Amino acid sequence: MRNHDVPAPIRKAVFPVAGLGTRFLPATKAMPKEMLTVVDRPLIQYVVDEARDAGIEHFIMVTGRNKAVIEDHFDIAYELEATLKERNKTAALDGLRRDQVGGGEMTFTRQQEPLGLGHAVWCAREIVGNEPFAVILPDMIMRGETSCLDQMLKTYHETGGNLISVEECDPSETASYGIVGIGEAVGNAYRMTSMVEKPKPEDAPSNFYITGRYILQPEIFALLAEGRRGAGNEIQLTDAMLRLLETHPFYACPFRGRTYDCGSKLGFLAANVAFALERDELAADFAAEARALLEAAGR
Ligand code: G1P
Repeated sequence: MRNHDVPAPIRKAVFPVAGLGTRFLPATKAMPKEMLTVVDRPLIQYVVDEARDAGIEHFIMVTGRNKAVIEDHFDIAYELEATLKERNKTAALDGLRRDQVGGGEMTFTRQQEPLGLGHAVWCAREIVGNEPFAVILPDMIMRGETSCLDQMLKTYHETGGNLISVEECDPSETASYGIVGIGEAVGNAYRMTSMVEKPKPEDAPSNFYITGRYILQPEIFALLAEGRRGAGNEIQLTDAMLRLLETHPFYACPFRGRTYDCGSKLGFLAANVAFALERDELAADFAAEARALLEAAGR
């Protein structure tokens, strides 16, 4: 990008929410994993808030069967609102209203077959159209002084191109994530040199893993449309991005904060502790309770 070029704004975000959530059965038998709660908010609310606060105007949910409750969650609940109003529960009512999205700001489309993350993103192509967009994985929720998408957008305004958020993982964990190769520093980011989905530690180009926030140029859709299969015989977003990297600039943005992988039980439990400790009304009592529990368990 030349200095005087202003990168096109990022107005739309894609949320792939079609996954079965098998790691959280039986909790996710009848309920989408995106509705699992951290303290008292569903995972999907955290990531929609992150997107909205970063200036995203349109939210695209790529869903599957059994996910209708996500649509209900972001709708106006007239009866509930009327009851809260009648009972003067103003704080609860204000909270509900803050969490909703405006009319027409959220679109739902279905990934009809479980063919992988790349396929899920491809299912949003007609709604995204020919403009750069964000992808946000709801499993991953983050805490930082500013949000991950916000930090990435600041970099994007300098660099343009494609960006991925990364964080360092234990080298033994590379087979759980997409892993990137890192080149020269560009401001707060690094030029990316390679990407590989779920490599064994000995094949990993680094220990920087893809944490689930992407800013992508629309050229990715033509590559995804080819439907090439990768790791796990799925159409992988990582593989299509690797091919886009051959012709388009790609940057890795280390997140200044911490990522909680709520697709794993440990990450999910840690997120609940971390977010509870940040709530004024809960922190002191919860910390005392946690200490007592650990002591009683001899830990
Ligand atoms: C996906 C991506 C992977 C990324 C991960 C983050 O994998 O394919 O590159 O590191 O999300 O959670 P999944 O968790 O869907 O297997």
